[in-house]
Amino acid sequence: MMDGTETTTAAAAPAAAPTAAPTAAPTATNDERDERRPGLWEPMRSGGHQCWYPVLLSSDLAPGQSTSVDLCDGRVVVYRGADGVVRAMTAYCKHLGADLGVGDVVGDDLRCPFHHWRYGTDGRCSHIPTGDRIPQAARLFTFPVSEKWGIIWVFWGAEPPFEVPTIPTFDEKTMVSKSGQIPMDEPLVVDSWVFGTNIFDFAHFRAVHGIENLSPDVERDGHRMRWSVDNFIHEAVGRVTMTVEKWGPNISVTHGVRNGEFLGHLAASSPMGREGTKFFIVAVTRLESDDDEGRATADRNLDQILALHTDLLNEDLPIMNTLRLGEAHMTAADRQMARYLHYVRSYPRTTMAELERSVLPARGDGRAASAPSASGPAASAPSAAANAGSE
Ligand code: FES
Ligand SMILES: [Fe+2]
Repeated sequence: MMDGTETTTAAAAPAAAPTAAPTAAPTATNDERDERRPGLWEPMRSGGHQCWYPVLLSSDLAPGQSTSVDLCDGRVVVYRGADGVVRAMTAYCKHLGADLGVGDVVGDDLRCPFHHWRYGTDGRCSHIPTGDRIPQAARLFTFPVSEKWGIIWVFWGAEPPFEVPTIPTFDEKTMVSKSGQIPMDEPLVVDSWVFGTNIFDFAHFRAVHGIENLSPDVERDGHRMRWSVDNFIHEAVGRVTMTVEKWGPNISVTHGVRNGEFLGHLAASSPMGREGTKFFIVAVTRLESDDDEGRATADRNLDQILALHTDLLNEDLPIMNTLRLGEAHMTAADRQMARYLHYVRSYPRTTMAELERSVLPARGDGRAASAPSASGPAASAPSAAANAGSE
């Protein structure tokens, strides 16, 4: 994990405070500094952040099944072997580029549909039916995979610096969860990090969702950004004490208490190319009694949580889908959002081409290919600087 906790304190003064002493006027200083920073709102053109992405529900993939999905700037084959384990690799066969997602699972291996080259669980080609010598470069990149909360997660990179997050207050003895993909009125076309800005954009909560007076401080803690409210009272929401954590650019975990009741959910999105950015959600609730009535009540609560978040997301959708990224003029009220934008721009990224290169044999010049690093938000992964804009 990364270094310690960092906190930004919200300034109470309005944006224009020309007479205040420099040491007492962080608002004006932040405002001017953010105005001068180009790049925070620029598109990130290739690859993806090195984070866990939800790609399928576990129930979508029985043993012996395979499928391919677009992810970040590449395509990934995901399959479940006879051993029940889900594996994910770069999708295109190294022979002539057939999509392995339409091939067959043979035992725990994958077989290409075109000429039946076979790939083992380490991604290496293990068999060519003609008996020809196997080219050294016939090797797929294998992605770290996790199955948690009934969702299949693929890590975009070589070594995850953290596990798929838990919901801290979830207790499996007394609570139940339900996972699903959020139905959207139209495909979401912005990248995960852009939508992720939402939970640090406190001004939009009032304007779009009717939630006023929300302006907590945001802290950065290694791979996470987070904010908390204590006894926040709102007519529609009720009395809430909660923490919202953002892991990478795309996973949000919310936990706390609402009107005296446990509150918690996890939401995560994945940029899935031609299908747009998809959202998955895990709702959790307390199981008051382990009988038919208790389970029916819990099920209703879970469906309510899923419906609430479906509404919130769809309220944002027409705005997100018509945004122009590029030039931005942020003001003092956007200070916490700017902080999140700096975080996502320093968070390591990598591309499909880099991942594929990282498993090739050592080059003729004696230098070995190396895996992209994801050791932390400040790490200098090969593509991080190239994709990080000009901050
Ligand atoms: S394209 Fe896969 S075996 Fe020929
Ligand atoms: Fe929103």
